[in-house]
Amino acid sequence: MRNMSDDHTHVQEFFTARAADWDERFPDDEPAYAAAVAELGLRKGDRVLDAGCGTGRALPPLRAAVTASGVVVGADLTPAMLEAAVRAGRDRDGQLLLADVAGLPFRTESLDAVFAAGLIAHLPNPAENLRELARVVRPGGTLALFHPIGRAALAARQGRRITPDDLRAEANLRPLLAESGWDMTSYVDEDDRFLALAVRRA
Ligand SMILES: C[S@@+](CC[C@H](N)C(=O)[O-])C[C@H]1O[C@@H](n2cnc3c(N)ncnc32)[C@H](O)[C@@H]1O
Repeated sequence: MRNMSDDHTHVQEFFTARAADWDERFPDDEPAYAAAVAELGLRKGDRVLDAGCGTGRALPPLRAAVTASGVVVGADLTPAMLEAAVRAGRDRDGQLLLADVAGLPFRTESLDAVFAAGLIAHLPNPAENLRELARVVRPGGTLALFHPIGRAALAARQGRRITPDDLRAEANLRPLLAESGWDMTSYVDEDDRFLALAVRRA
């Protein structure tokens, strides 16, 4: 039987093996991250979490959006990914935190937004974890679930087919977000990007 720490170990092993050359594998993604961050509607002084920040590729555009008066935190479960973020100097743009999105060390409704790239497919309990993200965001705050490649292109790259139970299919994601405290406001699934935006329900 798998338990929670088996899931953590699996995620950590998977990403530890990939941390050192993560950025080199995807060298052209920077503009896509900046464009996705722009859609979060951040303002100067906002407080934003990059959930599952990995090597921190989203931290520079997040910092640029909230400016020096804002707060940017990148949280990740895998120490090796955070170490790679430090090597890349991304700790200059945000505070890095070794944390599981299942239980975040933030006060309820203390953030304005959450950005999460490539995260939800790795969550063992997506509904619960999205609910935890909703807990830490104020009503009216925003969530971006992003991937710099669309579902079909990703499946092709990984040599698999998309099945109807795919968590990120619009028909599955909308109710999943709704039961977790989020109203989905837009959904784009194109070859070169996946982006679902949601607003924290009051
Ligand atoms: C596909 S990578 C994406 C990394 C980064 N967001 C990017 O776009 O380059 C997914 C990241 O989510 C992290 N992760 C997976 N499950 C997590 C959890 N429960 N809590 C925090 N981070 C998690 C992994 O360690 C990994 O760094």
